[in-house]
Amino acid sequence: MNGRDLVRSVKVVGMVGTAQGLRTVRSSWRRWRADAAAVVPPGTERARVPGPVTGMEREPGGGVVRFARAELRVRVTAGGAVFLGWDGAEPEPSYALAGRSPEADPRAVLEPDTEGGWRVVSERVTVVVSRYGAVELRTPGGVTLRRDLPPRWWERADGGAGRWVQRSEVPAEARFFGLGGRSSGPRLRNGTYLLWNTDPGGSFGPGDDPLYITMPVQMVVADSGTHLVFHDNTWEGAVSVHEGAEGAGSGHDRAGSCEVRMSGGPLRYWAMVGTPARVLHSWASLTGPPALPPSWALGHHHARWGFGSEQEVRRIVAGYQERGLPLDAVHLDIDHYEAHQVFTVDRERFPKLPQLADELREGGIRLVSIVDPAVKYERGVEAYDSGMAADVFVRDATGRPVRGVVWPGEAVFPDFTDPRAREWWGTLYKERLDQGFSGFWHDMNEPVSFAAFGEATLPRSARHSLEGRGGDHREAHNVYGLAMARAGYEAVRALHPEERPFLFSRSGWAGMQRYGGTWSGDVSTGWPGLRASLSLVLGLGLCGVPYSGPDVGGFDGSPSPELYLRWFQLGAYLPLFRTHAAIGAGRREPWEFGDEVLGLARGVLVERRRLLPYFVTLAHLARRTGSPYVRPLWWGNPEDRSLRDCEDAFLLGDSLLVAPVLESGAVRRSVRLPRGRWYDTATGRAYEGPAKVVVDAPLSRIPVFARAGTVLPVRGCDGGIELEAWAPAQGRSGGGVVVADAGDGWAEAELERFTTRWSEGRVVVEREGGEDGPAPGRSVRVRGVDG
Ligand code: NOJ
Repeated sequence: MNGRDLVRSVKVVGMVGTAQGLRTVRSSWRRWRADAAAVVPPGTERARVPGPVTGMEREPGGGVVRFARAELRVRVTAGGAVFLGWDGAEPEPSYALAGRSPEADPRAVLEPDTEGGWRVVSERVTVVVSRYGAVELRTPGGVTLRRDLPPRWWERADGGAGRWVQRSEVPAEARFFGLGGRSSGPRLRNGTYLLWNTDPGGSFGPGDDPLYITMPVQMVVADSGTHLVFHDNTWEGAVSVHEGAEGAGSGHDRAGSCEVRMSGGPLRYWAMVGTPARVLHSWASLTGPPALPPSWALGHHHARWGFGSEQEVRRIVAGYQERGLPLDAVHLDIDHYEAHQVFTVDRERFPKLPQLADELREGGIRLVSIVDPAVKYERGVEAYDSGMAADVFVRDATGRPVRGVVWPGEAVFPDFTDPRAREWWGTLYKERLDQGFSGFWHDMNEPVSFAAFGEATLPRSARHSLEGRGGDHREAHNVYGLAMARAGYEAVRALHPEERPFLFSRSGWAGMQRYGGTWSGDVSTGWPGLRASLSLVLGLGLCGVPYSGPDVGGFDGSPSPELYLRWFQLGAYLPLFRTHAAIGAGRREPWEFGDEVLGLARGVLVERRRLLPYFVTLAHLARRTGSPYVRPLWWGNPEDRSLRDCEDAFLLGDSLLVAPVLESGAVRRSVRLPRGRWYDTATGRAYEGPAKVVVDAPLSRIPVFARAGTVLPVRGCDGGIELEAWAPAQGRSGGGVVVADAGDGWAEAELERFTTRWSEGRVVVEREGGEDGPAPGRSVRVRGVDG
């Protein structure tokens, strides 16, 4: 225990109350002792590099290149993604993959390269393996996108899992994105980013790292092209990023670099090359399409830790209704549990939850329940008894259930990496559905166990099933939340097959989008927190997790009316639009900030509702294509370097560009526009991009631009879909797609495509493949004709 730990343990004892504090200290001590006994230190290690090439063997999609001390498998797969596995590593088993690994592409063949190396040429990428085991990814035109230097392994004398490092170079002007939810992005600047899902243990702001969702997924954007690399390895690791610099005058370029260091596990990775959209499409094909949220989940959600009673929930809902504020979901936090125990209800304060849920549902409002993984360690607690009987809790090396401390006090943890545990856990959701909940909010699943010192999670030596292969927490930690999401999603789908499940999870890993989304966690209340919350949404989208959003207003403290409003205005353009705050924090209802903010917030909520058909369309497109709703400005123009550095605005689908106000007192702001014509939707004024323009951003609105030629589906006064078409530039055409809501079940929704063009001085909107003239059954409003 070091000095900082000591201070923390004293604080825990003081803060949580003596009994809980002492339990926390005891549990931290147990954890420390378990690890000291069971995690064997590496002892002597021997470094290894591949050495010179010695031979090769062809296989479908590529083959194996052999070196003196290692071998590398290169396999181009049918969807275009390339698998690279050292020392016999295969794509499976994998927590990230949606199913079986894609088939090899038989057209890709391993052939000799210069100087004793080998290469595999495929449609989208050429992979060149040098004589000493460096790997280059090149565009079909021969331009190098990435060079992975020969890896280095450290082998342990006892044969245990060895660590390894792989260093890579990228073009001097390339920018890095991704690695999960990072607070100081989306552009990942020089630094080391840890791969170990972590609850920061309080609210976080820019620079706090790592957070709840880390994943070894990097997207690299350079002049020559975009690529995504995913190291399929769940162990603790770190990625150090160094952006390059271009030589001025006659100076040389300094390449960008990145170093992936893993504490164990296989060295295997996937590479995808193409436009950003293409790369994410390949990623979604590999790791699974994002779950489609029910349409109500694309409206406004209100949460609070500490509603405290049914009456208070009713009071808040009435507050929304009386003031004409649209509301679609209310989230109940841990204070509705009995003694903080998951899958229970405090019947004194929430005596008629199913009735409340029914009433709310009739008024178009759904109830969402928090679900924490930790189960109270106490005989007589139903989940504890049934979990013990089913033998599904994480055990230590001596076979005893691992105990930690979370909200209910001493607790044990389901081993979600065990299919039997997932199945058992899934049965518990029946109680939630019977209570009338329509959605699930998974929390504390990094997993957290409060700590007085050391790490606030399970001991690394804790044993896990890992789908029957067996292993410890070092390997299971990062996929704990992902596996919990799988358990919840599959259970709800089976228990309630007529509706699509709605689930979002604080922690997760590559592939989590298959089960739902996430939110930005306990973001700190303040302008830096506002900025961090956008960074997380953008970064996660580039890792294939399109549905997320922040706690509007921040998690702790009390935002000023201005900050609250600016957060509200941003949140309204993000997939998950939710107000939420900690127990004891200031209130987050729109009427708590004065009449001016209330009026403006109403306008924001009404606009969000008007845009619902657009959000529904974006959700369907994310499912079909892997493209996130919220995209960085460079999405369609990755070659525009100035856009790569632009982090304070984003594209919402193809149609809109949103420029939130992220600074106190700002009533104007500059906005960098990508190529093409853009209309300020408030004034109708047209701007020609690429350009940096300065526009008004009064307290009443944030700047939102519409792309010329676009067709935006919006909700009309009768609740039906109308088309808002923005005039293309003269002589140009445009278009858009609409996916009409087909209900919250599994029916496949129809995709309608529209085009816009000028004809005899008028803008004409037509349905592709449809009759001539305006789209049948859809009214159209053309805007921007005077721009
Ligand atoms: C931590 C979560 O991040 C927060 O959203 C929630 O309110 C608290 N846990 C209490 O459940």
